[in-house]
Amino acid sequence: MKLQALNGFKDILPGDVELWQFVETIARSVFARFDFSEIRLPILEPTELFARSIGETTDIVEKEMYTFVDKKITMRPEATASLIRAYIEHGLYVQKPVQRLFTIGPMFRHERPQKGRLRQFHQMDAEVLGSQNPRIDAELMAMGAMLLQELGVSVSLELNSLGCPECRPAYRLQLQTFLTERFDTLCDDCKRRSSTNPLRVLDCKNPRCRAQVQAAPSILEHLCSACGQHFEEVQAGLGQLGVQYSLNKFMVRGLDYYTRTTFEFITTDLGAQAAVGAGGRYDGLIEQLGGPKGVPGIGFAMGMERLVLLLQQSAGGDALGRLCPDLFIAALGQAASDFCFGLAHELRSAGLRVAMDLEGRSLKSQMKQADKTGASWVLIIGEDEMKNSQGLLRNMKNQEQQQVELKAGTLKSLLQTRYIDGTEFSVKKILS
Ligand code: HAM
Repeated sequence: MKLQALNGFKDILPGDVELWQFVETIARSVFARFDFSEIRLPILEPTELFARSIGETTDIVEKEMYTFVDKKITMRPEATASLIRAYIEHGLYVQKPVQRLFTIGPMFRHERPQKGRLRQFHQMDAEVLGSQNPRIDAELMAMGAMLLQELGVSVSLELNSLGCPECRPAYRLQLQTFLTERFDTLCDDCKRRSSTNPLRVLDCKNPRCRAQVQAAPSILEHLCSACGQHFEEVQAGLGQLGVQYSLNKFMVRGLDYYTRTTFEFITTDLGAQAAVGAGGRYDGLIEQLGGPKGVPGIGFAMGMERLVLLLQQSAGGDALGRLCPDLFIAALGQAASDFCFGLAHELRSAGLRVAMDLEGRSLKSQMKQADKTGASWVLIIGEDEMKNSQGLLRNMKNQEQQQVELKAGTLKSLLQTRYIDGTEFSVKKILS
């Protein structure tokens, strides 16, 4: 039997990993600027945590969780519930009234795999716990927008409000009446949803259901005055921060914990998997999971596979994915090879990314290898060079070469003073 990765589970290979690192580096930088701290969470959690937060009748809990039934534990399908569990368990609300936390890692959902949809996928998740202020909603969306802008991916932001336990039940009832009148035209899933979770019918992908709900009552016209005012202020905040958005009254999200603000960052470049990131407010969840009363929360998660796909599709994607050695050392003969073995180590300690062939291949083959790695410079050392303590340093961009003195102790400073000033030499900053 040929052993291979499970369907929907993917290896991330060198060449792609660099893109992932790029995405993560930008995210960490943006999160830091907004004063977020990292939290690392376990992959396995009690099944009940997700049933009670995401909701018993959601697709995630009903069909998509990887659960060890005998142990009542589940591989996390998202990070929000776990993060709140940790927030409550460690009393993080005592340390700071408003906590800004982020976490990055794999999530697991048993969905049908396709482009941009995996069974093990990765999220960068940011949450603000302890503030009701609509400016937090605006700031969080502005942070998401900044992150996407710095990555160079273009998306649109869609916004909605789902109201609160005060105003949503009346809306839900009105929507249910509307759906009952059209019951026969709905798909089987929506027939079921119209009684269990009628709001989910609004974002059904089935064209017949879509056509029917165009005339459905809008939640935005049924918000109570507190939710209405909150939503106004969120939009004012987005305006002040210069974040473009559009309203989408059909956006309901696939998780039950949301209240008020919900949002999605949408792309048209990934076919059916349009959401690059999504989130919203969940003002009742912390209390519902046994935390302190009335502590609100809001957050979002970005899907890393989708961000990486967008970068790969973009013009600059290739260049981003390539981390090249600063220097390739081509040694010819035993004496040169022995010497260069130590030299490479010394240069690496000094901060250079150095590649070297240890197999004693021909010069031609080593130059080919150097070219393949994309090294900026090649240092060629053969028997003659060893005798004169001289090496030949070739600039791989313009093919110019010159003799350099080969004293291991002085080579570093030599590179620094005579070559590192050249703008192409990427270690300039590290060594200076
Ligand atoms: P979600 O909409 O389920 O929300 O997922 C957020 C993002 O994760 C999606 O927009 C998508 O980019 C990515 N994603 C989800 N499922 C997959 C998959 N099977 N394959 C690849 N990417 C996927 C949440 O998870 C909420 N916890 C977000 C949140 C945080 N709300 C408040 N705080």
